[in-house]
Amino acid sequence: MNDQSAAAAPRPADGTAAGVRALRVESNVSLKPYNTFGLPAAAETLVRIASDADVRRVVDHPQYGRAPKFILGGGSNVVLTHDIRQVVLKIEVPGMRLVEERPDAWIVEAGAGESWHDVVAWTIAQGWPGLENLALIPGTVGAAPVQNIGAYGVELKDRFESLDAVDLVTGRSVTLRAGICAFGYRDSEFKHSLASRSVITRVRLRLPRPWQPVLGYLDLERRMHETGNTHPTPQQVFDWICAIRRAKLPDPATIGNAGSFFKNPVVTPEQCRDIIGRDPEIVHYNLPDGSIKLAAGWMIDACGWKGKSVGQAGVYERQALVLVNRGAAIGAEVMTLARAIQESVYGRFGIRLEPEPVVV
Ligand code: EPU
Repeated sequence: MNDQSAAAAPRPADGTAAGVRALRVESNVSLKPYNTFGLPAAAETLVRIASDADVRRVVDHPQYGRAPKFILGGGSNVVLTHDIRQVVLKIEVPGMRLVEERPDAWIVEAGAGESWHDVVAWTIAQGWPGLENLALIPGTVGAAPVQNIGAYGVELKDRFESLDAVDLVTGRSVTLRAGICAFGYRDSEFKHSLASRSVITRVRLRLPRPWQPVLGYLDLERRMHETGNTHPTPQQVFDWICAIRRAKLPDPATIGNAGSFFKNPVVTPEQCRDIIGRDPEIVHYNLPDGSIKLAAGWMIDACGWKGKSVGQAGVYERQALVLVNRGAAIGAEVMTLARAIQESVYGRFGIRLEPEPVVV
């Protein structure tokens, strides 16, 4: 159903010449195809956002302007436990381009609606490396800064230049640098004060020159050893990362999931000593600030959860940190399983695991 009323007041062009286009509104939309877990839920109202101007049209809209909003990217980091009454803004801003070629970096820009992996593959193909360790992470470009995606020693924040966002109260477009985004481990201001307040429309990435591969992760060291190749090209690192991820993480296109379900908990050296005393095998990493990150997947595995299920929600056989939809799971089953895992990990290690995806 198209809502033509929003086309009434033409807006200044924002470079997309979309000023006179109508807002694309749909009612009672199934969100099952729009969340990688494949959980059933519906949006009462869904608005497709292809530009900054579309966001401003929502802000100015007599009915939707003041209504609470839910921002949906690729749906790769949400657990939907019920229908959504808020106005769902489905972010579909397109585009990929090289903004600037500097002696020290390539700056590339991508629309928030682009697939993250497509952007990674495109930059590698263009000869602008730097994102290869972040290959195959499901989701969209706009979602990447929200949880500061990371893998194999690289986080979004390490390649971040700036982003454009539109304020959902004032309708104003702003460019935000890293300081304001407050990136942390799977965290940013977009999960806190800017949640449901700012719609990210474009992200700019800084790919440093000369390229320096990040190969410190055990899985990558193993590949170098196996292939005898200690000086891989960006394309080779990209291919290795894709192979490593395919071997241990389920493809959301065939098995619904939201990536790692819990964050790796960070503890003090005292807490860690206590846990190691009881479980000397526990996988842990020393962080630069003296604290210690524990491998949540190892702890869940040690509690015997790998391959277990609650209804149609299960723990992935090859990576205990990933919860999967065995076919017809509902959000409540996923959360029952998640709580049971939290309880058993707490019972054995005294650690409270925190879910990584947003639970709705
Ligand atoms: N482990 C087990 N059993 C398991 C799972 C893991 O013993 O069932 C052990 C592994 O053998 C390894 C350690 O735990 O020694 C850590 O496992 P892994 O290297 O697979 O990484 P992770 O800590 O489980 C994190 C990220 C992933 C990212 C990988 C690689 C988080 C929450 N997850 O997983 O990110 O791909 O490192 O960098 O930080 C995501 O966020 O969705 C995601 C997939």
